Amino acid sequence: MKKEQLRIMSVFGTRPEAIKMCPLVKELARREGIESLCCVTAQHRQMLDSVLEVFHVKPDWDLDIMTPRQSLSAITSRCLLGMDEAIDALKPDMILVHGDTSTTFAGALSAYYHQIPVGHVEAGLRTYHKYAPFPEEMNRVLVSGIADMYFCPTVGNRENLVREGHQRNLFVTGNTVIDALKTTVREGYRFSTEELNQIPYDTKKVVLVTCHRRENYGEPMKNIMLALRQLAEEHTDIELVYPVHLSPVVREAVDLYLRGAPRVHLTDPLPADEMHNLMSRCYMVLTDSGGLQEEAPALGKPVLVLRRETERPEAVTAGTVKLAGVVQDDIVTMGKRLIVDRRAYEEMAHAVNPYGDGQACRRIADAIEWRYGLRSEPPADFQTEPPGQKR
Ligand code: UD1
Ligand code: UDP
Repeated sequence: MKKEQLRIMSVFGTRPEAIKMCPLVKELARREGIESLCCVTAQHRQMLDSVLEVFHVKPDWDLDIMTPRQSLSAITSRCLLGMDEAIDALKPDMILVHGDTSTTFAGALSAYYHQIPVGHVEAGLRTYHKYAPFPEEMNRVLVSGIADMYFCPTVGNRENLVREGHQRNLFVTGNTVIDALKTTVREGYRFSTEELNQIPYDTKKVVLVTCHRRENYGEPMKNIMLALRQLAEEHTDIELVYPVHLSPVVREAVDLYLRGAPRVHLTDPLPADEMHNLMSRCYMVLTDSGGLQEEAPALGKPVLVLRRETERPEAVTAGTVKLAGVVQDDIVTMGKRLIVDRRAYEEMAHAVNPYGDGQACRRIADAIEWRYGLRSEPPADFQTEPPGQKR
């Protein structure tokens, strides 16, 4: 290490944060004036490790906090205590957190306690509903209050922050998930399991499903599972592929209401490269995930969102994403339409990239270098394509 290098520590702990931060950890490592440090909380143990393996990132510090069925308070308090040690040992000049998880909130709060500047990656997303998504909406609002630099995926995200009174150090960068996608999706990709290789992608309509959100626990998740079952039973031309999240709450709902239905393939969580290539070959996506709402439009796949609202309105405006809600009949009606009505499907199935051009990590690293005097100009903003523009 050269003494004058800036020590930038990226902190993350869950699967989506890892997928979106690993490309940035690597981009920062390529910069001469920066030492790129990586501290993982391991809020997700197995799902995090899988991503680290795919992207070949070795953490400098691992808090290893995950416990089965962990409560929000347990995650936050274990992260805070662990972060004290990580900061004392690694002595970062700046800490980067991502998005809206409990790791994000605790990482930012800990940086504040140590009076270390915070960069918020994926800043400015909002539903303006305190409990939807829960607890993510409040996590990102609280992190906005702490952050010193804001890396907004879209112009709309920046506008949200400006309206809330944040005026300085806002950068529109695109979402780093598109950077990740550009490294994982490959022509002729072969999956690691025969189950996925043998799915007839050309002759059947492959519906890719994920579902895990805390605000969907209970009745909404039951409705979602029953809707998926009904779609699979009523449409012999679909194959439903569902990599099931490791949360025991989710797995119980799947076992109770979906397992055993015809044409349903339930798998363990897939490594990120497998998931992205599966998405690129599927017919459409049904999900309550945030990340999938960003990835699928870039791959030209229609998405039905299994939630009541979304903090990602750009792809809805562009016409590739629709809100299906959490009522069984609504999900079945909207799913059926995309399965049987070719026109309705074609209207949604065009590739748009409202979330990025694959240059988000470069812009974020440039902005950090600029803030610390290592570069004379800030990066130019990512320009979102006009809605509806076809590629
Ligand atoms: C968390 C985030 C959510 C994000 C999601 C991405 C919070 C509060 N929630 O939700 O914003 O959308 O990750 O997937 O930060 N588990 C394992 N192994 C793993 C991962 C999870 O066994 O690798 C199990 C554990 O029993 C764990 C449970 O899943 O207690 C729930 O994990 P947790 O991180 O608390 O919540 P998620 O629903 O995954
Ligand atoms: N993903 C994955 N394997 C899976 C399911 C999802 O790699 O089995 C990826 C997905 O492509 C996206 C990210 O995980 O990049 C989304 O994570 P998740 O849905 O857990 O969280 P969210 O985005 O809702 O916060």
